[in-house]
Amino acid sequence: MKGQILNILKTETEVVSGETLSTYLGISRVSVWKHIKKLQGVGYNIEATPKGYLFISAPDALYPWEFGEKEHNIHYFDEVDSTMDIARELARKQCPHFTVVIAGRQKKGRGRLKRSWLSSEGGLYFTIVVRPKIPPVISSRVNFAASMILAQTLRNMFHINAMVKWPNDVLVDGKKISGILSEMEAEIDRVSFISIGIGINVNNDPTPDEPMATSLKKILGKKVPRIEVLKAFLDRFEDAVKDVNLDNVVSEWKKYTETLNRHVRIVTAHEVSEGLAVDVDDNGALILKLADGSVKKIIYGDCFHE
Ligand code: BTN
Repeated sequence: MKGQILNILKTETEVVSGETLSTYLGISRVSVWKHIKKLQGVGYNIEATPKGYLFISAPDALYPWEFGEKEHNIHYFDEVDSTMDIARELARKQCPHFTVVIAGRQKKGRGRLKRSWLSSEGGLYFTIVVRPKIPPVISSRVNFAASMILAQTLRNMFHINAMVKWPNDVLVDGKKISGILSEMEAEIDRVSFISIGIGINVNNDPTPDEPMATSLKKILGKKVPRIEVLKAFLDRFEDAVKDVNLDNVVSEWKKYTETLNRHVRIVTAHEVSEGLAVDVDDNGALILKLADGSVKKIIYGDCFHE
């Protein structure tokens, strides 16, 4: 209902009476008033005059009613430990495909390889639960689809040079703007769900401890509406995961990568491998050509461009 009220108010330049809203939406005027009060309470600037309501401005907010027909699968929290935990709980309770958990801030945001992900106000922090009908062996294609689509979305919206770094970071001018963490539960031949957790530095400032990080605000010199970034990404990503086998994802991802044809160092908990990144196979493994001429396939790790 709040989404519908906002839609009407946003398209009108004149005051809209409570009666008009109540007739149009089939709810009482008191109910209209209660919704408006709630919207005002969470930061919407809606002027209430004796003749009705006038929309002035919206906060940089990510409330479910901002997502149109996706509203029912969106779960928004001002602050959580990690959206990954909530997504996992929902997934285990059989939440629908493409359920999205969004947080304004995270107290214990998680990164890949057991690192933490600083999640202060202004960034985008969300986890999408998907249930692709694929075997686990090709599940990493979903992450490659996510990073590639995010890079495309940022390029289209802001005309910036967003690129992907193996496996799934998004960089702008060599600095990290987004990272992806994914968790999966599966049987031997079938994925039950994958939770794709994405952090994007939008209107937040990377701390001095993160010299290799950047944000949209830093690049563009102004704040941008997070909701527009998230909606554009979710629409494209939802479309992409409809493709049953995600067959072309990795080859498409390669068009946007900065990792291939350069010397890289891959660090895992157990080893460090260095070599020329010559390819990424259809399931996302990085193919390295080592100094002795041998070829090594790497499935996970931290990648450093030399
Ligand atoms: C990385 O580059 O290390 C991955 C970072 C992933 C961060 C996101 S923010 C939303 C979701 N919730 C988390 O706790 N982590 C992911």
